Amino acid sequence: MENVLTLNLKNAEAFISLEETIAFAGQSVRHLETLNAGTGAGSDFLGWLTLPSDIQVQIDKIEKAAARLRSITDTTVVIGIGGSYLGARAINEALAHSFSPYLKQKQAHEILFAGQNICEDYFSELIEILDERNYSIIVISKSGTTTEPAIAFRILEQHLEKKVGKKETEQRIIAITDEQKGALRSLADANKYETFVIPDNVGGRYSVLSPVGMLPIAVSGLNIRALAEGARDMELITRKNKDITTNPALLYAAARNLLLKGGRLVEIMVGFTPKLYFFAEWWKQLYGESEGKDGRGIFPASVNFTTDLHSLGQYIQEGQRILFETVISVKNPARTVTVPASQDDSDQLNYLAGRRLSEVNHNAEDGTILAHNDGNVPVIKIEIPAIDEYYLGQMIYFLEISCGISGYMLDINPFDQPGVEAYKKNMFALLNKPGYEEVGRELRKRL
Ligand code: PA5
Repeated sequence: MENVLTLNLKNAEAFISLEETIAFAGQSVRHLETLNAGTGAGSDFLGWLTLPSDIQVQIDKIEKAAARLRSITDTTVVIGIGGSYLGARAINEALAHSFSPYLKQKQAHEILFAGQNICEDYFSELIEILDERNYSIIVISKSGTTTEPAIAFRILEQHLEKKVGKKETEQRIIAITDEQKGALRSLADANKYETFVIPDNVGGRYSVLSPVGMLPIAVSGLNIRALAEGARDMELITRKNKDITTNPALLYAAARNLLLKGGRLVEIMVGFTPKLYFFAEWWKQLYGESEGKDGRGIFPASVNFTTDLHSLGQYIQEGQRILFETVISVKNPARTVTVPASQDDSDQLNYLAGRRLSEVNHNAEDGTILAHNDGNVPVIKIEIPAIDEYYLGQMIYFLEISCGISGYMLDINPFDQPGVEAYKKNMFALLNKPGYEEVGRELRKRL
């Protein structure tokens, strides 16, 4: 298949040979088979494997709902946290205008995010903006009981009601949640809000190709059909393909686990464009929450170059040798800017005159990879032709399936997140939530 993302291991080969990686990937074909057979840990949560095809029947409904919100409002607040927000934000920010979301695709609809923090100032500023805006809300929570989005929704639902009245609010809120259970489901049904369902067998961080990601992405005017098509093409390449040389998901999972065995505890996702900032955030959640358990897993970090070459670049070049990098290398930018000539050349940049910024950026990328190699840092490259819906769809599925394989290589359950409960329990206790008072008293002694 042409036009497909490729995995380039050349700059990791001094650390893990290609033969070794291929052999390791060969051994772990069985993990891919376990995923497909649904016989491994967490097998109740494998619905994401076929989401690129399964979502097709809902695309018309999603587009219709998106068009409705766009026709009645100019702003949509997406409320959610973790897997219920990062995927949509990753795609939206990768394709949005960097400075004015209003210019995005020349369509005047802005997406704002709430419920992913409990910062009072952030919230107050959001309300200040919403006082002036004609807005709608998409509230997303699989459990329907997560504190951060629940607080955000309580505040914004009341704000909206006050602004446009109860009847109009009904038209402006869409809830995405469980088909039957949870507080959000009851609330949505009681208020007759339109709803979409998060499938039972899809966990939050694997849900971007369900209505969780697709609806907010469609509301911002992006092409969700192309996103699903990219994911579907990647499903064809990776899901049933046991040939290591043509299945990049097997190779990526093998390479990163071999590097871990060699003492590389931290994987840094690198982008050479700020547009991939939230994509790396999405990836960090996917891999961190999937792998970090039972005292195992690679710690996922991210940097944005060339910006961070002037901050974290020093550590990567010369600090503790526990790192490896995974660079998302983008061939073609969407726009063109060239360096102009200058008559006096006082800044001595005329050697770049007439050349595109992307040429400068690509040489910065190659130069950085080689410098980091010289500094004893292995580099894996994921190469894509461009940042658009189609290739982002490929990336999403590729990284999800690699994560499932990699989790099984680590012998953990990549589809649960028991560790997330610890902070929640303490927070409830410290807030004197009914039933938690005794724990709260004990905890306060430690502060
Ligand atoms: O990946 C996950 O399961 C989590 O990150 C959840 O998405 C996150 O905790 C939000 O949960 P919920 O959608 O139930 O509000």
